[in-house]
Amino acid sequence: MMAGFEPQIIAFCCNWCTYAAADLAGTSRMHYPPNVRIVRVMCSGMVDPIYVLKAFEGGVDGILVAGCHLTDCHYIDGPVKCDETVNKLREVLHVLGLEDKRLRREMVAASEGVLFAQVINEMVEDLKKLGPSPFKAKTEALA
Ligand code: FES
Repeated sequence: MMAGFEPQIIAFCCNWCTYAAADLAGTSRMHYPPNVRIVRVMCSGMVDPIYVLKAFEGGVDGILVAGCHLTDCHYIDGPVKCDETVNKLREVLHVLGLEDKRLRREMVAASEGVLFAQVINEMVEDLKKLGPSPFKAKTEALA
């Protein structure tokens, strides 16, 4: 574990479920670290692989893609599409040398603020163990 390292996380959250869960966690004063920046999307199935790859290219340490449970999606098959996207991304990230735990996929309902906080806490702990993304140094060198 790298002393003083605070991982940067981007969470792509479905508007209807996980974004509301994050809001619930905040308004209920559940504690989770401030390392996460949330990007609201209308459905987890609309998260384009390019969004994730661009974020990693920009030096982010970890990414969460989260949305509704399988039967709750407002657009019917978003979670299935999201799973397919994440599975393909895992293959690409493996080739790029990024560890599996840098990309996390979750289904978090609007009522599951506790789960949202738990996922963020776990991600921060996992990423602290991994250390900064290998792309971070390259990004900073180019800046
Ligand atoms: Fe939430 Fe599709 S509307 S995952």
